[in-house]
Amino acid sequence: MDTTVSTPAPERKKIIFSGIQPTGVMTLGNYLGAVRNWGPLQEDYHCAYSIVNMHAITVRQDPKALRENTLRAYALLLACGIDPKKSIVFIQSHVRTHAELAWVLNCYTQFGELSRMTQFKDKSAKHADNINAGLFTYPSLMAADILLYQTDLVPVGVDQKQHIELARNIAERFNGLYGKTFKVPEPYIPKVSAKIMSLTDPTKKMSKSDENPNSFVAILDDESTIIKKFKRAVTDSEAVVAYREGKDGINNLMAIYSSVTGKSFQEIESEFDGRGYGDFKTAVGTVVADHLKPVREEFARLMNDKAYLEDCYRNGARQALELSQRTLDKVYKKVGFVL
Ligand code: TYM
Repeated sequence: MDTTVSTPAPERKKIIFSGIQPTGVMTLGNYLGAVRNWGPLQEDYHCAYSIVNMHAITVRQDPKALRENTLRAYALLLACGIDPKKSIVFIQSHVRTHAELAWVLNCYTQFGELSRMTQFKDKSAKHADNINAGLFTYPSLMAADILLYQTDLVPVGVDQKQHIELARNIAERFNGLYGKTFKVPEPYIPKVSAKIMSLTDPTKKMSKSDENPNSFVAILDDESTIIKKFKRAVTDSEAVVAYREGKDGINNLMAIYSSVTGKSFQEIESEFDGRGYGDFKTAVGTVVADHLKPVREEFARLMNDKAYLEDCYRNGARQALELSQRTLDKVYKKVGFVL
């Protein structure tokens, strides 16, 4: 054997983790801000994606609906191009290490840090009758999700950035005390679609928990519903398709159109130069509906094959447990638990 020729060691594939709550329906915001990127990332990274049902119970859920929505959310991820043969795709409550590490991390997370989380402030204002401890410590569970897999990158919308900053701080603190235990993760946030806004109030984030269903597009909405919602979208009275400050509604529609078609803002401005908002809104609705059609079809097919889905999520849970247990063992040893 010729030992003088040295081939460079192959670079370690980086690790991706992300999650989505199975509350209600998946919206175009979830999709363009996060989930749409998860499929393509599978080609170059080791990816793990989770339906985070343990996060969902921080606000009151109907048990039957939660169970159904969890399965639907799982099928929808696969329909969006996440391949369980390439990625680890699992349901959070199936993998006990998440709750176990979350407890340890709770003891390394400060009350002040959690108090500063804007999602906690928003949700506690919205659910004033149920400001439970889980809602408060939600970010430590999210840190556990991420840190268990020695994650390099976390693909999310911009609203999750603060939680990832906190996960980084917790990881650095723990590493500082006990030596390198966790990889310190980075957020991975898309440029144009990091924050898709409500169609009825474009100063607010598009959210599945919005009471007005016209404010969001659900991935599973049919074509005519999608087009109708875009036609009704709140804009301004200027009738000029241009991206600039003060035009929140049009800026949002341009971000959606750009994200789906790959066209730049400048290209969109020339395409709709001299045309009214009516044309533009119909065009946005049409490209979104066309883009989502195969997702809807694949979702319907998968929901008819519950045995396949179960096979996938049981297998995903086994893989996730095996990987995450390694990190949890390290942590238990470092903090002084008898193994
Ligand atoms: P969730 O379930 O609220 O949302 C899932 C993903 O969708 C993104 N998103 C948006 N992006 C752009 N525009 C919008 N209007 C919009 N609305 C939602 C979110 O940023 C997110 O990426 N805490 C997380 C779930 C979670 C998680 C994790 C994420 C739990 N553990 C570990 C990453 C890593 C959440 O509630 O996402």
